Amino acid sequence: MMLLKIRRVANRKGVINVSGAKNSALPIICASLISDGDIILENVPNIVDVTTLFSILRKLGYNVAFANNRAIIKRKKRTPYKILGEDVKKMRGSYYFMGALLSKRKKIMIANSGGCNLGNRPINYHLEGFKKMGAEIKEEKDITTIKAKELCPATITLPFPSVGATINLMLAAIKTKGITTINNSAKEPEIVDVANFLNSMGAKVFGAGTSSITINGVEKLTSSHYHIMPDRIEAGTYLILGAMLDGAEINGINGKYLYSLISLLRKSGFHIFASNNQITIDKEKSPNVINITIGPYPAFPTDLGQPLAVLATQIKGTSIIKETIFTNRYSHIKELNKMGAKINVVDNQVIIDGTTKLNNAHLKAYDLRGAASLVLAASLNENYSTIENIHPFLRGYEKPVEKLANFGIEAQLIRNEN
Ligand code: EPU
Repeated sequence: MMLLKIRRVANRKGVINVSGAKNSALPIICASLISDGDIILENVPNIVDVTTLFSILRKLGYNVAFANNRAIIKRKKRTPYKILGEDVKKMRGSYYFMGALLSKRKKIMIANSGGCNLGNRPINYHLEGFKKMGAEIKEEKDITTIKAKELCPATITLPFPSVGATINLMLAAIKTKGITTINNSAKEPEIVDVANFLNSMGAKVFGAGTSSITINGVEKLTSSHYHIMPDRIEAGTYLILGAMLDGAEINGINGKYLYSLISLLRKSGFHIFASNNQITIDKEKSPNVINITIGPYPAFPTDLGQPLAVLATQIKGTSIIKETIFTNRYSHIKELNKMGAKINVVDNQVIIDGTTKLNNAHLKAYDLRGAASLVLAASLNENYSTIENIHPFLRGYEKPVEKLANFGIEAQLIRNEN
């Protein structure tokens, strides 16, 4: 178990460069195995979820070199179709091997993926889509087997614009003979990034970023050298931290990806400059309460709801964050309340009464963005807080100790044997 010991030691405007996006790196790495050529990926974040995927690829016999955020994945003609090791269960994104291996081998036997516990997280939309494409599915206790004699093009309408289902179905359709349409598809920028990567290998994906994606099947995919987009959630997390401390300068991110956060913060009174490669925020002495409903892109991202709750504790009055994507993304609340926050959940509304001083405390993280919110909260206090089980945070944030230091935060990762 890893522990994070953390406190604020200086007042400083944080200047950071954004890392590559976790939620496009994960499907892009899985999609690399569909290619008939070598893949070079730039701007790959060195985070635990990425190294876990590389470990799975290596166990499948792939030669993967990873240094300085560049990954080189050598082609392999035949990929084993069984992915049953423990690594699959350590993360959510390993389920993108389903679409990728269906494309490549037309069959896969895979252990059920893990990831953050945010309430019920079924994959029925993915499986229903695969079925529509002619696949047969066998679900056993911990293992799912999917196979098809021939994957057929299909028209699939998702009941909800699921990020995971949109990407998995896009991957599965890449080599079908004909045109597949995914209606009510998710529009997140990471979907566009994955589609751009697939097209860089010769795939024919149209309409990514809209609610209808069309895939014209191709026979072969070539080698590619691709640069992964910046992580808007990492950028948003540090922007929120800057809003509570002495401001922030976030480099390497286009403000358009965080439009919902930026307009919310501006409405609250913060002064924000946003260009196509930088976002800056200044400290604001008396911001106004925030009131936001989370939703699929371009609405406010669920992944920033937990960090945003910390900012709301520092704003006078009652702020409300309504979570509409996941049924139980509230693990941070008990911990923040331990520090002195006044937060209640009523139905799916997180109601935060501010201002409250957040005291240092011994905390426990349960999921990735919940962990991020505890890191932000602990960064406000000059006395040490400790965050037990910090591992989920490391699944999604690259070099957090160095990045936090730019904000005047002293953070130490400590291996805790208990
Ligand atoms: N859903 C279903 N059936 C499905 C798929 C989804 O009912 O087959 C439901 C989910 O239970 C949830 C909603 O639809 O209520 C949205 O789920 P979605 O499929 O969009 O989410 P996901 O693919 O599981 C990805 C990110 C999450 C991010 C969400 C929403 C990855 C690996 N994960 O999850 O990221 O919160 O999209 O944007 O890309 C994180 O980074 O901390 C994280 C949780």
